[in-house]
Amino acid sequence: MNLLGIETSCDETGIAIYNTVKQSIISEQLFSQASKHAEYGGVVPELASRDHLIKIIPLIRHTLEEAELELNDLNAIAYTAGPGLRGPLLIGSSTAKSLAFSLDIPSIGIHHMEAHLLINLLEIPAPKFPFLTLLISGGHCLLINAKDFGSYEIIGQTIDDAVGEAFDKVAKLLELGYPGGPLIEKLAKLGDPSSFKFPRPMTNKDNLDFSFSGLKTAVFYALKDTKVINKQIKANIAASFQDAVADTLLIKSKKALEETNQNELVIGGGVASNKYIRNKLIEGLKGSSIYFPPIERCTDNGAMVAFAGSFYLGNNNQNKNDQVRPKWPLSEL
Ligand code: KG4
Ligand code: ZN
Repeated sequence: MNLLGIETSCDETGIAIYNTVKQSIISEQLFSQASKHAEYGGVVPELASRDHLIKIIPLIRHTLEEAELELNDLNAIAYTAGPGLRGPLLIGSSTAKSLAFSLDIPSIGIHHMEAHLLINLLEIPAPKFPFLTLLISGGHCLLINAKDFGSYEIIGQTIDDAVGEAFDKVAKLLELGYPGGPLIEKLAKLGDPSSFKFPRPMTNKDNLDFSFSGLKTAVFYALKDTKVINKQIKANIAASFQDAVADTLLIKSKKALEETNQNELVIGGGVASNKYIRNKLIEGLKGSSIYFPPIERCTDNGAMVAFAGSFYLGNNNQNKNDQVRPKWPLSEL
């Protein structure tokens, strides 16, 4: 079977085809609008919708061509139904539903964060349920006790900013541009992570929740209190901030592994593409098995949606998520 996946929840138009016999993604296309939104310092929903509208059909066509398939060779269409920006979600969902209707095949509404989680199961070796999951993206920071497919207990989450949001806001303070994560990671390579003493928020608390807005404020004051701001100072701040985030994620993940008695940690979301954070977690959690998707499948992509769709095939679940849901808790699948 061939499953087409459509991702349009934010500023990436991602299209891919997953083949259930080959158990692999046989073709994929990705268009990032990041440069369009850079001048505004963040995603402008209306501009994002327009770009998805322009790109979605040509990208579907290219994805089919690359796989040497025709529309009629598709057996189902999975699309991101939420959470995300309403306009962009509607472009993806209406394209998926109308194509599926015309081809007389099922359309499957996928939860974006479940797709970020499940894409790890495409790797070899793949983690096996139950496992602990850490999802770190632009909109979320979640610790999840993933008991089984579709059964996710949220055991920790951010009480304010998401971790990727903190990267983006700190990048703005450092006047680096958008999206902030990759730019901070690059600049941090030139800096000393021990030069600024930033807090590890909530790590002395007895729960598994996160908070990143205070860390961002600490960066704000560090900049304000530093008389001369040059590239080296910015690099030191970037490295120290990144180290504080990595430490915080490590401390909370360690605690969550202990509390849930798990030995496997599955990580996903855009921030999981950060090599410094990946290394810190691998080093700090020796003795546990840590799973990451390949770097290019951490940030938003169509492959994760196509693959997630395969779990719902023949599940009688296809029409459950008929509406787009800009706010959709993972616990309400
Ligand atoms: O998963 P994703 O592509 O979209 C959401 O579901 O939100 O994550 C995007 C977020 C952005 O905040 C971006 O700055 C961050 O992931 N990000 C990174 C890196 N690459 C992307 N953060 C830190 N280091 C990176 N290399
Ligand atoms: Zn995402």
